[in-house]
Amino acid sequence: MIELNGKIVIITGGAGGIGAAAAEIFSKAGAQVSIVDLDAARGETLAAKLGAKFFKCDVSSSEEVKAVLGNFERIDVIYNNAGVYLPGRDGRITDIDEAVWEKVLAINLRSVFLFCKYGIPLMMKNGGSIINTASSAGMIGIPGCDAYTATKGAIVQLTKSLAAEYGRYNIRTNCISPAAIMTPMVRQSNLDDDTFDAESFLKLRTPLRRFGTPEEVAQVALFLASDAASYLNGAVIATDGGITINGDLSKIKRD
Ligand SMILES: NC(=O)c1ccc[n+]([C@@H]2O[C@H](COP(=O)([O-])OP(=O)(O)OC[C@H]3O[C@@H](n4cnc5c(N)ncnc54)[C@H](O)[C@@H]3O)[C@@H](O)[C@H]2O)c1
Repeated sequence: MIELNGKIVIITGGAGGIGAAAAEIFSKAGAQVSIVDLDAARGETLAAKLGAKFFKCDVSSSEEVKAVLGNFERIDVIYNNAGVYLPGRDGRITDIDEAVWEKVLAINLRSVFLFCKYGIPLMMKNGGSIINTASSAGMIGIPGCDAYTATKGAIVQLTKSLAAEYGRYNIRTNCISPAAIMTPMVRQSNLDDDTFDAESFLKLRTPLRRFGTPEEVAQVALFLASDAASYLNGAVIATDGGITINGDLSKIKRD
């Protein structure tokens, strides 16, 4: 079994969805987990259940991120998981309001900049693991969410330069690229839309023919956080049941 005994871990967006699953799985693996999220009600309840810490923080705010990190002398793992997709407001570039563009970039991308800029110095002495979160939207072109895709593509590249730069301090930086994980975000971006046909999506887009679970992403994060992944640096791991490598499943006749 993979263990994180005594590792000091920060999980952004840890109050819900994939982040909450990671908080639970990391805690069970022996980590000292700190959940960082805007949602205090859910964050505090989860932290109390897990014996974790909770920090209410807007991850796009430099002041708030610095205030959270000021509580630590050492950090072993930063899981940059917080992110938003703004349905109805994000879209194609000619339609997006400038304020929406700025907001998505701030929450999804500036947050990674801030947690790395102010968190990496707390990893320099002992090494550590940074886990970033992209998306299939950072790997392939997906129409209708240009601010979101811009942030996720940037996170893929930032992961590689961080890996190249900080590897010599034994700080490993890797990236998880999920798709179709059943969380409030995937419901917002797909299922709440009357035109979305889940059955045909599963048949045409997903080789495994099902949505993924938050726990299935959290297990990949657990591996990346642990010493079991000690020679993994700069990897982008698609955790999407094969969606991004899939060409055209409509040619498959069975089922
Ligand atoms: N669910 C999917 O299928 C999917 C696919 C691709 C990528 N992702 C990525 O995975 C990550 C987690 O997604 P999820 O599906 O669990 O989303 P979610 O919406 O279920 O959870 C996101 C969490 O982030 C928190 N959050 C949002 N804005 C914040 C802010 N400004 N400051 C602090 N916390 C904030 C929310 O309160 C929530 O707890 C995101 O980066 C997302 O882009 C998810």
